[in-house]
Amino acid sequence: MHTLILGQPEMGKTTLAKIIVRQAEARGKIAVVLDPLGDHWGENSIIVESIEQMIDYAKENENKLLVIDESAMTFDRYDPKQFWVAKVSRHMLHSSIFIGQNLTDVPRGVRTQCTQVFVFASSRTDAKNLSDEYDDDLLLTITKLPKFHFIRIHNRKAMRGFVDFPKMTINIHQSSSMPVSEKDSSLAKSKISSRIA
Ligand SMILES: Nc1ncnc2c1ncn2[C@@H]1O[C@H](COP(=O)(O)OP(=O)(O)O)[C@@H](O)[C@H]1O
Ligand SMILES: [Mg+2]
Repeated sequence: MHTLILGQPEMGKTTLAKIIVRQAEARGKIAVVLDPLGDHWGENSIIVESIEQMIDYAKENENKLLVIDESAMTFDRYDPKQFWVAKVSRHMLHSSIFIGQNLTDVPRGVRTQCTQVFVFASSRTDAKNLSDEYDDDLLLTITKLPKFHFIRIHNRKAMRGFVDFPKMTINIHQSSSMPVSEKDSSLAKSKISSRIA
C-alpha cells in the first residue's frame, strides 16, 4: 500500500511516518528511508542518500517500505523516478510513504497510486483542491487543523484523527466530527433522555 502525507512544516508529518515505519517493523518489514533533512529513523531502517540509491536497493531486495521525506527536495515535478516508486515498485512487493508540504509537491499520477492520504494543516488552495478532488467538504477544514491533527482519506472516505506522541499511536475518529468515545457517550445520553421522556 502506498501512503501520502501532506501538510505545512512542523505539523507532525515525519513523526506520523516514523510511527507507520515502527508498526511496519513490528510486522517484520524493513524501511528504506530517503530524508534530505537527515532525521533519526531508528536503528532498523536503512538510510539512503539519493533516490538512485533507493531504487537500486529496491530492485535487488523485495518487500520493503520505501519512505521519501520532503519529496519536493528529491523530485522535480515530472521526474520519472517517483513514478517508479509509486507504480513499478509494487511488482517487487514494496509499499511506500511520500511526504510533502503541498499538494503540488507530489504529481497527481503519484497521488492516485496512494491508497491512503494523511493531510495535516495546509493552505486554502490545497484545501480547495483536495475537497474538489475527493468531493468532501470536510477537507475544507484542513486550513484550521491544530498541530498534530490530520484528516485521513482512505477508500475516498475522509476522517479526522491525530498523532498521540507519548503513546506513539495514530488515532482515527470513527465519525467525521468526533472521536468514538465522545460519540458513544452522546448516544448513551440520548438513549437515557429518551427513556426519561
Ligand atoms: N503528536 C505530537 N505531539 C507532540 N509533539 C509532536 C507530535 N508530533 C510531532 N511532534 C514534535 O513536533 C515537531 C515537528 O514534528 P515533525 O513530525 O518533524 O513535523 P513535520 O515533519 O511536519 O515538519 C517535532 O519536534 C516533533 O517531535
Ligand atoms: Mg518533516
